[in-house]
Amino acid sequence: MDGIKKDYVFHRDLKKKYPIITHGEGSYLFDESGKKYLDACSGAVAANLGHGITSIGEAMAEQAKKAAFVHTMRFETKALHLLAETIGKMAPDHLNKVYFTTGGSEANESALKLARQYHRDAGRHQKHIVIGRWQSYHGNTIGSLSAGGDVKRRHAYTPNLLNYAHVYSPYCHRCPYDRQKDDCLSKQNWTCVTDIERSILELGPENVSAFIAEPIVGSQQGAVPPPLGYFKKVRELCDRYQILLIIDEVMTGFGRTGTNFATEQIGIVPDIITFGKGVSAGYAPLAGMIVHDQVIEGIIENSDGKFIHGYTYSGHPVAVAAGLAALDVYKQDSVLENVKKQGLYLFNRLLELKQKHAFISDVRGRGLLMGIELVKDREQDLLFDPAEKAAERLNGIAMELGAVFYPGSGSIDGTKGEHLIISPPLNVTKTEMDEIVRILDESFTIFKLQLRKDELYEITK
Ligand SMILES: Cc1ncc(COP(=O)(O)O)c(C=O)c1O
Repeated sequence: MDGIKKDYVFHRDLKKKYPIITHGEGSYLFDESGKKYLDACSGAVAANLGHGITSIGEAMAEQAKKAAFVHTMRFETKALHLLAETIGKMAPDHLNKVYFTTGGSEANESALKLARQYHRDAGRHQKHIVIGRWQSYHGNTIGSLSAGGDVKRRHAYTPNLLNYAHVYSPYCHRCPYDRQKDDCLSKQNWTCVTDIERSILELGPENVSAFIAEPIVGSQQGAVPPPLGYFKKVRELCDRYQILLIIDEVMTGFGRTGTNFATEQIGIVPDIITFGKGVSAGYAPLAGMIVHDQVIEGIIENSDGKFIHGYTYSGHPVAVAAGLAALDVYKQDSVLENVKKQGLYLFNRLLELKQKHAFISDVRGRGLLMGIELVKDREQDLLFDPAEKAAERLNGIAMELGAVFYPGSGSIDGTKGEHLIISPPLNVTKTEMDEIVRILDESFTIFKLQLRKDELYEITK
């Protein structure tokens, strides 16, 4: 009880103690004891330029001094226009209008609502159901959680969730439909695609408003890219049944995977792209969506130009100033080039680690969004029991050694499957990359010893 009285923070885990960070510098964070952590996951794949960039801080301060808040129902700022223009120009052709929110969940919530309103006002009154994918994450608000397929996050709220549908995403390493990748590729009849059509027909196409997917599945599966051609097939289905395609680039956007948006790599034009995290490199809560001209035209013609939605802090002046300054740093520092170079280096170094440690069953990802699937033994394909919390434990060891990764679980079926995401700031250096791999290597060695000790304890108990 004493502890509760003295500590006023409602922590992520109320039973845990967290190090207090005093400052950050580049790829490193420092806690109040002086301990240094290499931020090998950019926080939550958000601090994409590392810490302590003064130009971003100064831009925010300048804007705060000029006008810290205006309400977008009455006023706008120059910074809002400049950032929207910059993002619109970075986005694929035909996606030009940018709508701002404060976080990725709100961005997806906005996209789901926009899809509904767009269809309703065009006379397709029944379209309201969203199809999402299992083991995908789109946020924690009720709408975005309903669209997502993260079983553990959904479980407690099942009675509150919307009646959305889900299919499996193409996790070819362990195909949820039990197909072989070569067989799919040669026959071109992919169950992960035909299942979407089955779902649309079962729900009734007249009821389906949108399909939402991450271009590379992030936190829930650990950086899993789709097989080439998957999204083209998805786009065709969406066109056939008048369903909007929402691509969630909250984690992948702004250079993380080696291109401005991962959408460029999947070769399609979505109806809506949602973004977050990297847009301000974590310096301010900023996210949003970029909307296709056709949808905008629909809202102008059929909805009198009004999207019935909005947040107090949409387009917050200080947040958009942070976004503008961050995007400037990305450009000035040729971050995309670095992502391609260091991403390839990281991928090869992780493959080396795979040779050394039987814990690694798969290395995947794009650019600097890399993931490894963790198993107890690769040769026997022996999975960890979820109760062992393997990824969390491994990350705990790494933190002791001075690096932070992004652990996750439930990647195979919502419960089973452990993974670690490695996603350092996009301006990471080769020396830092070597340190990341060294700490990961040592963490695996220590983890192996710990598991042996656990086994011995079980035998002798
Ligand atoms: C792909 C994806 N979508 C949405 C979100 C939710 O974003 P936020 O936590 O900013 O609400 C996340 C967060 O991790 C994400 O990775």
